[in-house]
Amino acid sequence: MSEAKRLAGEKAIDYVQDGMIVGVGTGSTVAYFIEALGRIRDRIAGAVSSSEQSTARLLALGIEVLDANAAGPLKLYVDGADECDPHKRLIKGGGAALTREKIIAEASETFVCIVDPAKQVPVLGRFPLPVEVIPMARSLVARRILALTGGQPVWRDGVVTDNGNWILDVHNLSIADPVGMETELNQIPGVVSVGLFARRAADIVIVGGEPPRVL
Ligand code: A5P
Repeated sequence: MSEAKRLAGEKAIDYVQDGMIVGVGTGSTVAYFIEALGRIRDRIAGAVSSSEQSTARLLALGIEVLDANAAGPLKLYVDGADECDPHKRLIKGGGAALTREKIIAEASETFVCIVDPAKQVPVLGRFPLPVEVIPMARSLVARRILALTGGQPVWRDGVVTDNGNWILDVHNLSIADPVGMETELNQIPGVVSVGLFARRAADIVIVGGEPPRVL
C-alpha cells in the first residue's frame, strides 16, 4: 500500500504554487508529500504543521515551519485520512493529530486529501472514530457517546496528544449523517474535537494508483 501512498503524496505537489505557505497534515501518506515538498523547498515560503511528527520531518528537510497564528489564512492544506466517503467526508485522527489537523483544514481555502484506495468506503464508521478529550472528561464523554450513538468508546491507553489530551476511539459505528454526528458530539463538554471531517470536508481527494485518480 505504500506505493499507492507515495503516488498520492507526490501528485499533491501539483497543487503547490510558488511562494505559498503550505498546510501540512500528519501520517505515512503525508510523509511522501513532505519528501516531495523538500525537493521544491526553495519555491515555497514555508509550512504550517499539524503535529510534532510532521514538524520534525519538515525541519529535517530545511522547510521553515511557521506558527498558524502568524501565517493567517492558507491557500492549501494537504493531509491524509483514515476513511473517505463519496462526498469527500473523512474520518481522521488515527495518528492522534485530529485537532491541529482540523484547525488547519478550517483555515485553508483548499483541502487536498491524499489516500490509498483502501481508505475509500461507501459509509464512514468502519474505522473507529477518534475523539480527542480533556483527560478529566474521559469517562463522562465515553458515557455520553455510548448513549448518543450506540458505538463503543475505547480509551487509546498510553497515548497523549500534542495538546496534552487523550483519545477515545469509537467502535461499531455506521455514520449515516456525518454532519449531524459531528455537530452533536462536538457539544459534549470535555470534547476537544471529533475526528469527523464532514462540516469541513475535503475539496479534492487524490487516490493513489498508477495513475493517481483525482476526485
Ligand atoms: C492523523 O491523525 C490522521 O488523521 C492521518 O491523517 C491518518 O491517520 C492517515 O494516516 P496514513 O496516511 O498514515 O494512513
